[in-house]
Amino acid sequence: MEKRLFSGIQPSGDIHLGNYLGALKNWVALTKEYDSIFSVVDYHAITIPYDPSVMQQKILDAVAVCIAAGLDPNNCTLFIQSTVPEHTELAWILGTVTRMGDLERMTQYKQKSQQFNQNINLGLFAYPVLQAADIVIYKAEAVPVGEDQVQHIELTREIVRKFNATFGDTFPEPQAVLGKARRILGLDGQAKMSKSMGNTISLTEPAQVIQMKLNKAVTDPARIRRTDPGNPEICNIFSLHQYFSSEDEINHISFECRRAGIGCIDCKKILGEHIIAELSPINETYQTMRHDHDYLRQILETGSQRCRTIAQETMATVREKIGLR
Ligand code: TRP
Repeated sequence: MEKRLFSGIQPSGDIHLGNYLGALKNWVALTKEYDSIFSVVDYHAITIPYDPSVMQQKILDAVAVCIAAGLDPNNCTLFIQSTVPEHTELAWILGTVTRMGDLERMTQYKQKSQQFNQNINLGLFAYPVLQAADIVIYKAEAVPVGEDQVQHIELTREIVRKFNATFGDTFPEPQAVLGKARRILGLDGQAKMSKSMGNTISLTEPAQVIQMKLNKAVTDPARIRRTDPGNPEICNIFSLHQYFSSEDEINHISFECRRAGIGCIDCKKILGEHIIAELSPINETYQTMRHDHDYLRQILETGSQRCRTIAQETMATVREKIGLR
């Protein structure tokens, strides 16, 4: 039997290059090895301010992006978290074996409660417990995530250990699976690429906008004039080439940059062409698919049915173990 994999995606709108390289692309590759389940985590999304009137479209957009980027609905399971209510039921139970002190230490909680300090709510605090429930309700062993989520997976393991020790062996300890692309910097070359920093290239951006954003992006700060020799190892544009250009091209660029044989504009032009070549078919598929609600809903319903079956089985075991029925 294939090992099971679970991951969640926020329905937060724009997926950017950082999400794509850091998560989505990795997911697509992993579906070949694992029984893979992916969830749009709407119950997580409502822990911060949001607009209910666009929530459904954002959920469908997240699914459409995943499929457009290569997740094959015939080869993995896609569903909306809130359509499997057992997730929240299990989260309540896991909450009883989760230490408050552990939750208080979570970096994402600290960040979000600072960012949204008008509504520091219980849901935000308990967010990692629901995330643990998402994973263990399917007894998933692999959880592909970005570096920022590793802390939550470690906490999930701690919760599992505590549950198993208290009530008997029930859940496997899941493991975070990190891809090659660890830390994709934004176009400022400083901070991690993120929507809130405004330093992103979105997967759904028109080609001209992508090239224009690249043209303004920060390169090697020491290279001021075209005739200055550059330092590819400290240039964020060069590091992006690693994900889109061939080895020969990368070697060529590195060599020419160091002797000022190629300028930043040309280097960005090459990068832009490659990024656009990879993203534009994705974007095209996405733009049509996001409006095909029947198609998306049907995939999600199939996924939800499968997940409910598994989740109900797990919950039956859990209730028995904890002495409830
Ligand atoms: N917290 C994750 C994020 O912000 C999303 C998520 C929710 C998740 N539940 C999950 C990821 C379960 C992996 C497994 O990206």
